[in-house]
Amino acid sequence: MDDRKSWAIKDEAILDDLVTLLNLTAGEKELLVNLQEQAQSKAPALSEAFYQRLLAHPLTAEYVTDQIEERKGTLENWFVELFSGEYGSEYIQGRLRIGQIHVRIGLPVRYPLAMMDLILEIGLKVTASSPQPDQAVLAFRKLLALDLAIFNQAYEDTQLKHLAETMGNERLARRLLAGGQQ
Ligand code: HEM
Repeated sequence: MDDRKSWAIKDEAILDDLVTLLNLTAGEKELLVNLQEQAQSKAPALSEAFYQRLLAHPLTAEYVTDQIEERKGTLENWFVELFSGEYGSEYIQGRLRIGQIHVRIGLPVRYPLAMMDLILEIGLKVTASSPQPDQAVLAFRKLLALDLAIFNQAYEDTQLKHLAETMGNERLARRLLAGGQQ
C-alpha cells in the first residue's frame, strides 16, 4: 500500500482539511446563526434527554454519576455553539479539546458517536423553524459531521501517538492500523 497524502496532514491542518471537505457556505452559516435563539430554547430538552439516556444504560451511567447539572449546562452551550456561525480555529480547537476530555476518562468512542443521534433529533426541531428548513438541515448536518470527525480525531490522535511511540515510527504505526499491509 502506498503512503497517503492525508497521512501528512497534522494538527491545525487536519481541521482546515475537514472544513474544506464540508464546504460550508456563507449562506449556510447565516441560516444557522439565525436559529441561535431556537437552539437556546431547545437546549434544556436536549440535555435532559441526553442524560436520561446515558443514565438508563448501566455501561454509560457509570461515567456520569456526579455534577450532572453542571454537565447539562456545558452540553447546552456545546449545542448552541453549533449555531454560532463561527467555525474557525477557536471553535474547532474547543471541540477537539472536548473530544480529548472524553478520551482521558476512558470512554469508548462508540458512545459519543452514538449520542449524535439525539443531537440530530433536537437539531432537526431547531432547523424546522428556519424560513429555509431544507437548506438549514443540510447546514446543520455538516456541523454535526464535523463534530463526529473531530471526536474521532481526538481518539485516533491518541492511539496513533502511543502506537508510533511503541513502534518508533508513525508510518509503521499507520500501516499496522491499516491491518498490517505493506
Ligand atoms: C454527543 C456526544 C457528547 C457531547 C457533545 C459531550 C459534550 C461534553 C462537554 C461539552 C463536556 C464538558 C467539557 C469541558 O469540561 O469543557 C463533557 C464532559 C464530560 N462528558 Fe461528555 N459529551 C458527549 C458524550 C458523552 C458520553 C456518551 C459520556 C458518558 C457515557 C460523556 C461523559 C462526560 C463526562 C464524564 C464529562 C466530564 C469529564 C471531566 O471533566 O472529567 N459524554 N461532555
